[in-house]
Amino acid sequence: MALYDPYDWQIHEDPYPAYRRLRDEAPVYHNEERGFWALSRYDDVLAGFRDHARLSNAQGVAIEQVGAAREVMSFLGMDPPEHGRLRNLVSSGFTPRRVRDLEPGIRDLATHYIDRFVERGECDFIAEFAGKLPMDVISEMLGVPEEDRDTLRHWADTVLHREEGRQEVPPEGMAAAGQLIHYFTELVAKRHAQPKNDLTDALIATEIDGDRLDDRDIIGFLFLMVIAGNETTTKLLGNALYWGSRNPDQLARVTADPGLIPSWAEETLRYDPSSQLIARTAVTDIELHGRVIPRGARVALLIGSANRDERFWEDPDTYDVGRNTTGSLSFGQGTHFCLGASLARLEARVSLEEVLRRLGRIRVRDEGVERVHSSNVRGFSALPIEFGH
Ligand code: HEM
Repeated sequence: MALYDPYDWQIHEDPYPAYRRLRDEAPVYHNEERGFWALSRYDDVLAGFRDHARLSNAQGVAIEQVGAAREVMSFLGMDPPEHGRLRNLVSSGFTPRRVRDLEPGIRDLATHYIDRFVERGECDFIAEFAGKLPMDVISEMLGVPEEDRDTLRHWADTVLHREEGRQEVPPEGMAAAGQLIHYFTELVAKRHAQPKNDLTDALIATEIDGDRLDDRDIIGFLFLMVIAGNETTTKLLGNALYWGSRNPDQLARVTADPGLIPSWAEETLRYDPSSQLIARTAVTDIELHGRVIPRGARVALLIGSANRDERFWEDPDTYDVGRNTTGSLSFGQGTHFCLGASLARLEARVSLEEVLRRLGRIRVRDEGVERVHSSNVRGFSALPIEFGH
């Protein structure tokens, strides 16, 4: 019996007991059947993120061997120094200012969606809010027209979906990835012809000491934003309401003091991170805790486990919206630290502010809650809630 199988739908229900066993019994775990190794203790996961000399991103960061094609992985699928060059170029278009300026637009979007269901006293929070807003925000930034957004969202969801117990990307997922790349290729071509002052234009215009992004790099980054930035933020919003509702005393604390909303989001990310693992490939043999991870092996850094490691956290299984979450690994660490963390935090703060203010007391229903099934993304595909003042 495997201690931990990220494709097992039962594990998806609650992976935390399995993580604890890994930390205690097999801190360097090898799942032969699935062909990967896993690090689960906080210190090991942190060291893994920092060790880009021995643990490479060049074969992608999914546990599956799907490679790291430039069109879909962008600089996330590169190691230093190549990674730094592209990340710097992209960062000069994707600036903190550009993110900050989004706040009023995000609030308008939140208001728009809440208006549609607020009178009903109930909704599916994923279908009617959390599953929509992050893609709208990214689409707005990139200049994707409104009528295309649902299609893009559908492709992005299809890329991440896995069949029960299956490791490989289903053919529909491969097809959806192709459709997204095709869509962004056309978008970039359109912007060359007719700029509109959005992020896509900024990326086209970016130049550092004569160095520029070529179209492939831009398409890769757009794809990465949609995959890395959309699903994860949707799940964060859903998880915040779910765990808030399951811990009514904690939800009451944030309702009484909305200043706690940012730390509510951070605690949700620590307690039940949207991105449960990030994989690397060992470029050399790595000895750890008396075992040798062989060169070429796939190594999963289990964020979800590190964030609950009692060797690092006090009382890690308690959901505490006032917790100091410094050290949380939910956005990774080191060279590849999430480029969109400030955007995700802004979306979470503004959305949760509006949700609490407008909906009042919120309760997740017992019936109809459904999880997504992915090897690394954790959260809900359906989250029926009821609410009222
Ligand atoms: C709650 C939401 C999010 C979570 C939990 C999350 C998580 C992560 C993690 C764990 C990494 C590290 C990957 C690695 O070490 O290989 C990462 C990288 C990245 N994320 Fe996020 N992310 C979120 C939102 C976003 C958003 C909104 C965007 C963009 C708009 C974004 C864009 C990126 C990019 C571009 C990278 C690659 C950085 C690099 O390789 O240098 N993410 N994210």
